[in-house]
Amino acid sequence: MSLVCLSDFEAYAKKHLPKVIWEYLAAGADESCTRDDNLLAFKRIRLRPRMLRDVSVVDTKTTILGTEISFPVGIAPTGLHKLACPDGEKSTAKAAEAMNTCYIASTYATCSVEEIVAAAPASFRWFQLYIHRKRSASEQLVRRAEASGFQALVLTVDVPYTGKRRDDIRNQFQLPQHMSIKNLEGFFEDHDRSEYGLPANSVEPSLGWEDIRWLQSLTRLPIILKGILTKEDADLAMRYGVQGIIVSNHGGRQLDGVPASVDALVEIKEAVQDKLELYLDGGVRTGSDVLKALALGAKCVFIGRPALWGLSYKGTEGLQEVLQILKDEFRLSMALTGCRNVSEIGRHLVQPSKL
Ligand code: FNR
Ligand code: LAC
Repeated sequence: MSLVCLSDFEAYAKKHLPKVIWEYLAAGADESCTRDDNLLAFKRIRLRPRMLRDVSVVDTKTTILGTEISFPVGIAPTGLHKLACPDGEKSTAKAAEAMNTCYIASTYATCSVEEIVAAAPASFRWFQLYIHRKRSASEQLVRRAEASGFQALVLTVDVPYTGKRRDDIRNQFQLPQHMSIKNLEGFFEDHDRSEYGLPANSVEPSLGWEDIRWLQSLTRLPIILKGILTKEDADLAMRYGVQGIIVSNHGGRQLDGVPASVDALVEIKEAVQDKLELYLDGGVRTGSDVLKALALGAKCVFIGRPALWGLSYKGTEGLQEVLQILKDEFRLSMALTGCRNVSEIGRHLVQPSKL
């Protein structure tokens, strides 16, 4: 069998994963309008390629927060990787290391931060943080992530409460007993596993902008906010001195009815310009999606579900294949639009009427 594009991996995962797990990965909130629009919005954008530009050598390298990566696609934080493959996040970290890109490990990993680092010591990794009602748990986790060599904190700001995912409710989705949220072991009572093996609504819903200051006081690591969708919040993010923003709607799993990530990116880029680094996740499925996001102002994009499809296919190797396909497709899209390096990718590549 030959898998040639990301939708082949999706079909594989759908066929081979248990139905309840597949539905958890695929889920969007409510009617899944935003989840689906994340993909459709990329398809609405039309490109303006330039010809005769000697594309015999095309360089896909870039940097994020000063660190070089081999191409501008990293792995978005998603929880519970042991649902997709036996070694869970250890496999994910190894694939990111092999492909020389960034892996954002989730608070809700089924391996601890220390296990993830041990599996791929040379990998470039950021840590995604959910701040919990039990602040001491989050405080300790920040210190552990910093001590074990994570290079930035990605604070997810779009989950004061978990979105309503209908299939998970119908399926009474639960983390299997033999798995746990390793990073938070010992902080919550074992008998209450109502959401992903954690107490329901254990994320802190009272979080506000002043808590960014609290987080800054705990760590020297750069802070990136994940889940910003408006220019107003982008302005606040700049005012509070964060180093980056991931424009994201959580893969359409939180508030249904918000814009596709790539549509929100346009508004946010106008507000931010070059004052901080912008990234995007949501709906990236082809190399030309990556090119479009970069043309509209993202420095790098991240993949959520496609990484899990790759893991479900063949663990580390499967995820590496997914990343390699995106890298090859991105290089080809660059060449076909006349871009020899990522600094040549700009707004001029996109037809204005299609925005
Ligand atoms: C997520 N996402 C997510 N985000 C986060 O900040 N922390 C997390 O633990 C998770 N967990 C998670 C699990 C699963 C199964 C999915 C599908 C998503 C959101 C994720 O980081 C990202 O925003 C989206 O997945 C991007 O959209 P695509 O690439 O899946 O379309
Ligand atoms: C999700 C949580 C873990 O989207 O963020 O499933």
